[in-house]
Amino acid sequence: MGRLAVLVSGRGSNLQALIDAIDTGSLDAEIVIVISDRPGALGLSRAEKAGIPVQVVAWEGEGRREAYFEKIASILRAANVDLVILAGFMRLLSANLVRAFPQQIINIHPSLLPAFPGLRAQRQALEYGVKVAGCTVHFVDEGLDSGPIIVQKAVPIYDHDTEETLSERILTKEHEALPEAVALVLSKQWQIRGRRVTCES
Ligand code: GAR
Repeated sequence: MGRLAVLVSGRGSNLQALIDAIDTGSLDAEIVIVISDRPGALGLSRAEKAGIPVQVVAWEGEGRREAYFEKIASILRAANVDLVILAGFMRLLSANLVRAFPQQIINIHPSLLPAFPGLRAQRQALEYGVKVAGCTVHFVDEGLDSGPIIVQKAVPIYDHDTEETLSERILTKEHEALPEAVALVLSKQWQIRGRRVTCES
């Protein structure tokens, strides 16, 4: 059974999707720690309600970036995790943290990468005028939303869409994509060739 750490900054609905997938038996894993950079994050209450240990590591400013992520790395090591999941964690990890957990950190992003990395991806998609949007779960590398892609799911964009309606449609797909990607990564039935994550048959 995979030992998961989940990092959240806010609402935590993707964390909830993982909790639910574990509860219903569709994901064979245990969330051993939830970490947040924001003390009031709703994700923390979701974790506590599910009986999962939580830890707040409050952001200390850009000047303390390396030290901040070293703290997070120590917590992850102490918890002996197999996989770290960024589920709405709104900070770019330090290179040291990424190197300390090679191919063991994944992120969910609300666009079909490589389109629209960074903040407010749904708004970027609407402003660009694309007709298809979606979400991506990918391995984290040292760049911004740039690592090898594990799972993507697409949704249509309609003329009447707003940032809110599109975000909601994408979020529904995120809640399917994330548990699916976690199960795949934990299965170890994959390899990375170049940028391509392929499943062994
Ligand atoms: C999700 O839409 C996630 O894809 C996005 O933040 C939201 C968090 O929602 N993440 C990013 O934009 C990261 N670049 P949640 O807290 O309800 O899971």
